[in-house]
Amino acid sequence: MKITIVYGTERKGATYRIAQEVIKHIDKPEVTEFFLPKDLPDYCISCFRCFSEKVGTCSHSKYTLPIREKLLDADLIILTSPVYSFHVSGQMKVFLDHFANMWIVHRPQKEMFNKQGIVIATASGPVFSKTLNEMKDSLDFWGVAKTYKLGFAIMDVNYDKVSPKIKEKIVRKSKLIAHKVNLNHGRIKPCFRVRKWFYITRFMQRHLKLNPPDVAYWDEQGWTKKIRPWRG
Ligand SMILES: Cc1cc2nc3c(=O)[nH]c(=O)nc-3n(C[C@H](O)[C@H](O)[C@H](O)COP(=O)(O)O)c2cc1C
Repeated sequence: MKITIVYGTERKGATYRIAQEVIKHIDKPEVTEFFLPKDLPDYCISCFRCFSEKVGTCSHSKYTLPIREKLLDADLIILTSPVYSFHVSGQMKVFLDHFANMWIVHRPQKEMFNKQGIVIATASGPVFSKTLNEMKDSLDFWGVAKTYKLGFAIMDVNYDKVSPKIKEKIVRKSKLIAHKVNLNHGRIKPCFRVRKWFYITRFMQRHLKLNPPDVAYWDEQGWTKKIRPWRG
């Protein structure tokens, strides 16, 4: 299975180790990894070219195009972030901002609707759900068919000092999610949230026609008529 992982930190700490635990249990993994901020160091500068012009016109294309290619090529996308001040790390937010043009309400890529995703977050304390949901929002709105959440309160900043009980839970949950991904590989259908936003946007593109490049794109794909981006 082709896997693209984007790490919201360059530190090979807890979130990195948990991602490694998951991929250990995935069938025949072929892994591509991106580390932030190294692989996308620049902030979005609000030029709006990605919303109004063609792909590749972003000022940071030398970083975004190789990542985009690997996101589209993957069967499974994994996004990870440590919890920073209750949210994703700044570098993960910068990454998500650069791919807002792929949201369903703009120009989603049809490949996304047949993929699975996993979001992974770790915190020293008990609060990690916002961080997971911030990453999951982008995967859902890119059209990724099904995304699983894996969050842990590891109660330490050093993974080697994490209690055996928590480590055992990490292994058990990682295996379970990897098992679900293996089972669903090649036959996943978009979840309710993805379909709901597809049909809301379809209505917008047909009747409200807010952003002409988006409307033209949806027409070209045939999605305003009978064609759908998912298989089957
Ligand atoms: C700038 C910063 C902010 C943090 N904010 C929180 C926080 O709000 N809540 C929390 O439980 N842990 C917080 N932490 C701790 C990390 O989330 C935690 O140590 C995480 O497991 C680190 O992941 P890593 O080992 O992959 O780097 C913060 C750490 C840093 C460096």
